Amino acid sequence: MEFAIERLHPTIGAEISGIDLSKPIGEPTRQALNTALAEHLALVFPGQTLTPNEYLAAAKLFGPPMRQHYSQYHMAGFSDIGLIHHRDGQAPAEGWHTDHTNREHPPAATILYGVEVPESGGATSVANMRAAYDALPVDEQQRLEGMTTINGLDTDRRDTRQEDREKYGNPVIHPMIRTHPVHGSRAVFFHQGKALRIEGMTPDDSQIYMTDLLQRMIKPAIVYSHVWRKGDVLVIDNRATMHRAHGDYDRNQSRVLWRVIVEGDRPRLI
Ligand SMILES: [Fe+2]
Repeated sequence: MEFAIERLHPTIGAEISGIDLSKPIGEPTRQALNTALAEHLALVFPGQTLTPNEYLAAAKLFGPPMRQHYSQYHMAGFSDIGLIHHRDGQAPAEGWHTDHTNREHPPAATILYGVEVPESGGATSVANMRAAYDALPVDEQQRLEGMTTINGLDTDRRDTRQEDREKYGNPVIHPMIRTHPVHGSRAVFFHQGKALRIEGMTPDDSQIYMTDLLQRMIKPAIVYSHVWRKGDVLVIDNRATMHRAHGDYDRNQSRVLWRVIVEGDRPRLI
C-alpha cells in the first residue's frame, strides 16, 4: 500500500499520509482508499495543493461528481465544485445532516477542500451513524427499519433558485436505516431539513421525533471534529455519517471550502 492510515478518534476518522491528490492514483490505491472510507467514515488528506481540475480528478476516486443544487454557489467555470463561503450570504449548516437526500442517488461521499481557514473555530464535525444505530435499543432499531422519509429541498432555506427547485425539488423517499453497499453494516440515514415528513406521520410529529432521535444518538463518543488547516481535504462517507459546520469563528476572517459530492447507490435496507 502506498499510504499510511492513522486513526483520529476511537470510533471515526483517519488521516491518510503519503498521498498527493494532484497526481494520478492507481486502481489498487483507489480501492484501498474506498475500503478505508467505508471503515473509518471520514478521511483527512493533509497538505494538498490542488487546482479545480486536479481536485475534481481526485474526487472521482470516490465516485462520479454530482451537480449540487445551489447553483448560485457553483465555482465559475467548474459547475461540479460548490463554494462554501459564509461571507457570501450563506449561513453555516449547523444542524446535523447528510447531504442531498432529495436525490434518488444521494452522494456516497462529500469532499471538502480547505482553501481559506479561520485562525480558530469553524470546524466540521462528523458523526458515526453506524455506531448510532448500533447503540439504539433493539425495539427502536426495529421501528426505524420500517420507517421512510419523504425528502425535498430544505424547507428553511430561502436562497434556493427557482430553476433548482424545479430540477431537484421532486419528492424522493428513502429508508431511515440503510445498509452500506461496501461495508454491509447498517446506519441511521436522514436529513431533518430535507425530510418533509416521515411516511405515516405529520410534518410536526416527524420533526419532533427526528430532533429527539438526534439528541439521543449524537454524543462525543461517536463524533470527530475536524479543525481545518489550509490544504486539508476531508472526505466524508455520507452513507453512514451525519455532519455539521460550526459557525463559532470570527466572520471577519474567511472560511472557504470547495465542495464536491460524488454519486452513490440508491439507499436501501438489506
Ligand atoms: Fe452538508
